[in-house]
Amino acid sequence: ATNWKLDDHPKLPKGKTVAMIVLDGWGESAPDEYNCIHTAPTPTMDSLKNGRPDTWTLIKAHGTAVGLPSEDDMGNSEVGHNALGAGRIFAQGAKLCDIALASGKIFDGEGFKYVSESFEKNTLHFVGLLSDGGVHSRLDQLQLLIKGSAERGAKRIRVHILTDGRDVLDGSSVGFVETLEADLAKLRENGVDAQIASGGGRMYVTLDRYENDWGVVKRGWDAQVLGEAPHKFKNAVEAVKTLRKEPGANDQYLPPFVIVDEAGKAVGPIVDGDAVVTFNFRADRMVMHAKALEYEDFDKFDRVRFPKIRYAGMLEYDGELKLPSRYLVSPPEIDRTSGEYLTHNGVSTFACSETVKFGHVTFFWNGNRSGYFNEKLEQYVEIPSDSGISFNVKPKMKALEIAEKARDAILSGKFDQVRVNLPNSDMVGHTGDIDATVVACEAADVAVKMILDAIEQVKGIYVVTADHGNAEDMVKRDKAGKPALDKEGNLQILTSHTLKPVPIAIGGPGLSEGVRFRKDLETPGLANVAATVMNLHGFVAPADYEPTLIEVVEKN
Ligand code: 3PG
Ligand code: CO
Repeated sequence: ATNWKLDDHPKLPKGKTVAMIVLDGWGESAPDEYNCIHTAPTPTMDSLKNGRPDTWTLIKAHGTAVGLPSEDDMGNSEVGHNALGAGRIFAQGAKLCDIALASGKIFDGEGFKYVSESFEKNTLHFVGLLSDGGVHSRLDQLQLLIKGSAERGAKRIRVHILTDGRDVLDGSSVGFVETLEADLAKLRENGVDAQIASGGGRMYVTLDRYENDWGVVKRGWDAQVLGEAPHKFKNAVEAVKTLRKEPGANDQYLPPFVIVDEAGKAVGPIVDGDAVVTFNFRADRMVMHAKALEYEDFDKFDRVRFPKIRYAGMLEYDGELKLPSRYLVSPPEIDRTSGEYLTHNGVSTFACSETVKFGHVTFFWNGNRSGYFNEKLEQYVEIPSDSGISFNVKPKMKALEIAEKARDAILSGKFDQVRVNLPNSDMVGHTGDIDATVVACEAADVAVKMILDAIEQVKGIYVVTADHGNAEDMVKRDKAGKPALDKEGNLQILTSHTLKPVPIAIGGPGLSEGVRFRKDLETPGLANVAATVMNLHGFVAPADYEPTLIEVVEKN
């Protein structure tokens, strides 16, 4: 059994209010016109950076530092918040799937066996995000899954694609669809009836999260299960190319379509007896869809038809809800998170964000676990996000409201830790709208100020950091770091996250004199933050946590 009791820190006191502020998508990069954090007025974050040099530093937020397969993998919110909350580096979904696919073990597991029972008489459907972004899914993993399934008897395969443009460049969807089509054509030559059956843009079809807008999931359901969509095409490449020209459409917001045969009939609705595999490994944007596919009792929208299927997720998407009940690869077991330890040691916590990032400071922070560890000591508040809009339209989002809630929680004196995620630089950065992203960064900075002011009043401590980069670089660059132009000589706007490090700052009147960042850690990263925060609450972190970022030097 776990010993939950944390040792007292030899030098740091208990009882200080600690504000833990996570700026989403706020990295550190060279100042230029495409660095929105640089161009935006951000006096509060600037003052932290230009303050005491030993209380501001940069930490790694991408690649192996957060459990991703390689140093080419940009950071993302799931792995970032997992590392921040858990204090250790776990091999993440992307990597676990790579390993299971490389060894072929994925095909020997319970999950695959279960779906493969449909191969003889029924269709195998794949649903997921089609790109090589590596945040939610990867095309090469889908390719291996399709190939492996065909080799193991799948005779009829249908792929329901969601176009990306958010973790990869807008417009790249066409190339991904062409690659997939070429694979499926080869399978057809070998006698497997394999086709793309439907599609749509990830932000408009299927991949909503944290129950922000069930309409998104419904549009996917209609296309994938019912075979109904406003647009019908005979060919998916043509579908994507044509629909991208619709007003307001891009890869992220492509309208839903179905592929139809010569007679105009949808080629791949999901019906009784079929198998369905969702090939995303990341959880947040699969949970709602998984509920629709799996729950007998369901009232979020009218499913019209609820097919009896054999369904497996690439991973288990929610360990607490056990959803879905079948999956191909076991998720990382992110146990003994800092949140769980701190509640066992009497630390009370308030966590808040708006809907689109709410699960980041709760579910991801707590190791992909929904709910409280201890209801008496924790309060999680969700501020409803604007739904049905792209956030460049309202770049201030709910930053002010989140800051007000945090301020009130700090001033109430009821909480030892007040934790927030400020989404602006990430959510608006993902739209690729540079002017709006500047407004977003400014709004986040104002919110930080409000929280720091409250910490000042209660003589508390603040920790300000970020989960990964985004708004600090809005263009694709060449090897020399110059903007890389496309064939027509245009800038290529970068909607995705980056490989940049993120800042971390500590301070506030409650911070003991002599506390400063250590210089002896070789490559500190997000996973070092949990031990740091435990120290600031007056505890020593468990021995297997990544080392704390701080030391306490004696005054002379
Ligand atoms: C998304 O899901 O919005 C992006 O793919 C990743 O963004 P996040 O990791 O910041 O949530
Ligand atoms: Co993001």
